[in-house]
Amino acid sequence: MANGKRIGLVLGSIREGRINDRVAAWTIAQLRSHGFQVDVIDPADPDLLPVQVHDAAAIARLRDRMAELEGYVIVTPEYNHAEPGWLKTLIDAVTSEWWTRPVGIVSYGGVSGGLRATESLRAVFGELHAVVLRDTISFYSPWRKMDEQGTILDPVEADAAEAAMAIFAHRLRWWVDALADARIARPYTPEAG
Ligand SMILES: Cc1cc2nc3c(=O)[nH]c(=O)nc-3n(C[C@H](O)[C@H](O)[C@H](O)COP(=O)(O)O)c2cc1C
Repeated sequence: MANGKRIGLVLGSIREGRINDRVAAWTIAQLRSHGFQVDVIDPADPDLLPVQVHDAAAIARLRDRMAELEGYVIVTPEYNHAEPGWLKTLIDAVTSEWWTRPVGIVSYGGVSGGLRATESLRAVFGELHAVVLRDTISFYSPWRKMDEQGTILDPVEADAAEAAMAIFAHRLRWWVDALADARIARPYTPEAG
C-alpha cells in the first residue's frame, strides 16, 4: 500500500476560524493511510503569508519546498463560485513547480460542495501544465458533518467519503508515478531551434 510518494497538500483558506482545517485533517489522514507522505502548504503559515504581497523571499521558500514534491492535493472552499483569492495568489506566485505534476482537488462549501471552485481550478491548472485528476472529493456543509479533528460524524457518510478517497488516491498515485517516469524519460520543454 505505502509507496512513500511525497505530495504537497495546499490549504485554500486563511480565514480565522476556517473550516479548512477540518477538511484538511480528514484528507491528510486519508492520504497517509494510502501511503503518501504529505507536506502541508498553508498560506496562513507566517513563513508563507508574505507570498500574498508577492514577497520575493517568501516565494523562494515556497518554490524550494515545492521543488521536492511529486504532486499536489488542494483542499479548498468555494468563495463566490470560485477558489478564494489567497489560494489563487499562492498558485500564481509559482510557475514551473506545478508543471507536469498531478493535482487532486478536495472541495467544500454550501449545497454545491465547492464544485464550482474545483471547476475554476481546472482552468487555472491547465495553464500551469498540471494534470488535474478527473476524480474529486467534495463536502457540502462540512461545518455540520465534521468535528474539529476532521472526523465525519455519520458513519454512512464516512464510508462513502473513504470509498471516494480510495479511488482518488489510486488515481493520484497512478499520475504521480506516470509523470515522474515521463520527466526522467525526456525533457518537458522542447529544445530551442
Ligand atoms: C466571501 C465568501 C463567499 C462565499 N461564497 C460561497 C459560494 O459561492 N458557494 C458556497 O457554497 N459557499 C460560499 N461561501 C461559504 C463558504 O464555503 C464557507 O463559509 C466555508 O466554511 C469557507 O471556508 P473556510 O471556513 O475554510 O474559510 C462563501 C463564504 C465567504 C466568506
